[in-house]
Amino acid sequence: MNNLKEQILALQSISGNLEPTEQERDHFLEKTKNYTNHFINTLDSSKTFETKKVNAERLSVNNEKRSIEEVLNIYASEVAETGMKPASGGHLGYIPGGGIYASSLADYLADITNEYAGMYFASPGGVTIENHLIDWMKSIFGFPSTSVGNLTSGGSIANLIALTAARDKHRIKNAIIEKSVIYMSPQVHHCIHKALRIIGLEDVQIRYLELDDNSKIIAEDLKDKIQVDKSNGLNPFVVVASAGTTDTGAIDPLEAIGEIAKANNLWYHIDGAYGGFFVLIDKVKNKFKGLEMADSLVIDPHKGLFLPYGLGAVLVKDKQAVYHSNHYVANYMQDAINEDFPVNPADVSPELTKHFRGLRLWLPLLLHGLEPFQACLEEKLLLTTYFREELKKIGFKLGPEPDLSVSYFWYPSTTDENEFNERLIQEIHKDGEIFLSSTLINGKFVIRMAILSFRTKLETIDRAISMIDRIRKEIEFEMNNNHES
Ligand SMILES: Cc1ncc(COP(=O)(O)O)c(C=O)c1O
Repeated sequence: MNNLKEQILALQSISGNLEPTEQERDHFLEKTKNYTNHFINTLDSSKTFETKKVNAERLSVNNEKRSIEEVLNIYASEVAETGMKPASGGHLGYIPGGGIYASSLADYLADITNEYAGMYFASPGGVTIENHLIDWMKSIFGFPSTSVGNLTSGGSIANLIALTAARDKHRIKNAIIEKSVIYMSPQVHHCIHKALRIIGLEDVQIRYLELDDNSKIIAEDLKDKIQVDKSNGLNPFVVVASAGTTDTGAIDPLEAIGEIAKANNLWYHIDGAYGGFFVLIDKVKNKFKGLEMADSLVIDPHKGLFLPYGLGAVLVKDKQAVYHSNHYVANYMQDAINEDFPVNPADVSPELTKHFRGLRLWLPLLLHGLEPFQACLEEKLLLTTYFREELKKIGFKLGPEPDLSVSYFWYPSTTDENEFNERLIQEIHKDGEIFLSSTLINGKFVIRMAILSFRTKLETIDRAISMIDRIRKEIEFEMNNNHES
């Protein structure tokens, strides 16, 4: 054998380790399945938040081989048992979702087959699945079939794609940037600001709109501010509304804002990352009236459809506006380009090669049908009402009636209220049984509850109530004792 062949074969005997045998695959799968089953089976009895420190050394990469047992052990103690447990129904902070099991099977399939879902030429089936999901969303949210959309890694990138399209549609570049105005609520998610910086619009003028007592944009204020800006020679070009803010879950008056946007030729963007999928519930559907007027809409299946992290979505009515930045023809892609092909995900997103993430929504929808998702969303609305009623019974004050499943509360302590509630959240985190987060509403420190995990059940809320009540009493007891001594 010649020297070159010998060298190749020598390397092959080592590189071949990257393709485990069927027996090894079974072994890896069996161990992983055992661990994940144990993880799910013990979720209810484990903490939702762990203050334990990570042993970073154990997580380091030192180029050495380890057994699957050792790797799973490290994962369990240093990753799954530290910090927040987003898979738990006890996660009532930020915006939870849970992470339905069926998506993990889809990710497994997508990873094994490694479909190239960026271009129709490479994966006609994969891209058809993603396009069907986009069409499905268009029909849910009242977008015309000529709209385009993309399945993104999450809400931030989805918002970025939408705002880029708005920028390009209105040709916001060069000298006009500083004269251009974007209108939004002060409670808009911060990824909107990040997106503006990333797409070169850091210097646009941002007008924060007045909010009513329920933290919703006052539409008249938008009208007034646009008039003032126009008369000052400025260039109003975008208004952002939220279909469920992160802070309080407020749905802005979508229809009224839409009418003002149309009358003034503004790009109308709606961020429905948290709240959008509640449109599937008849009793709250009317709150979303006007959603269909948007030029672009963001919705997040990894929030409102309970998927594991890694799936957001954006819909945009103007295909050319999205294509302006994202559609590209390169010589080395010539085989893959055919005008008769359906829309390629790569033409509506900065990504070319991407994870075949559509499968993680398609497979659960096919395995379960839509009904359990709808039941789950409605269940969350009722659990929110229940939580609030129970909190009231134990002496807490409540923020306004929420539109959806995010709301806030505080304890009206006779001592400094902000200090007391800050202490309360710290102790809640230390305890860890249930996880809640906090925010500031008009300078007031309040505790937020966001009920959106598919695993949050009546029993979870009962546990949350007794934990909050117990911790509140402990703090008061300690304060009284300190005061007396
Ligand atoms: C209303 C809203 N928009 C956008 C985002 C950002 O989404 P992501 O974290 O998926 O990037 C969030 C996240 O909570 C959100 O609540």
